[in-house]
Amino acid sequence: MQQTINISYDVFERLEGLPSDDQKLLKAATEAAKGAYAPYSKFHVGSAVLVENGDIVVGNNQENLAYPSGLCAERVAAFSASALHPDQKLMAIAITAFSEDFTTDKPVPPCGACRQVLIEYEIRDNQPMRCILRGSTGQIFVFHSIRDLLPLQGKFFG
Ligand code: THU
Repeated sequence: MQQTINISYDVFERLEGLPSDDQKLLKAATEAAKGAYAPYSKFHVGSAVLVENGDIVVGNNQENLAYPSGLCAERVAAFSASALHPDQKLMAIAITAFSEDFTTDKPVPPCGACRQVLIEYEIRDNQPMRCILRGSTGQIFVFHSIRDLLPLQGKFFG
């Protein structure tokens, strides 16, 4: 027997094509990327989480000379959002990045560890978390659930 998992996502060519809430979230992530502390990788990631009450909580990557002590932008944003709003659902997350060394013209997806963290909030909240991805330029991908970025976890444990 063979089973198939299908994942659909929306692709937008321009920021202006997104619904206004998602535009706002992606702009907040873009602004947040400028505040990243990334002296080692020179890869500046920004993230913004939309909380149920409409608040936007941003994060950016924070690096450290002891490399594993740093943290990705997505987890900085999601942990902050949950810490600041423990009773609110996390509705959506936007992620973007720019590099000092090369052009990021492809969407920047969250790493595996961040996906694991995000899906747990999605399961806790019983609410799909939209995920809006973009490089510093180029197409924008919108996933409708973190389950689509971590399908087996979502299928069997959520
Ligand atoms: N990084 C993020 O913040 N999010 C991602 O999705 C990919 C990687 C950070 C970690 C590190 O500070 C730098 O980007 C290079 O990997």
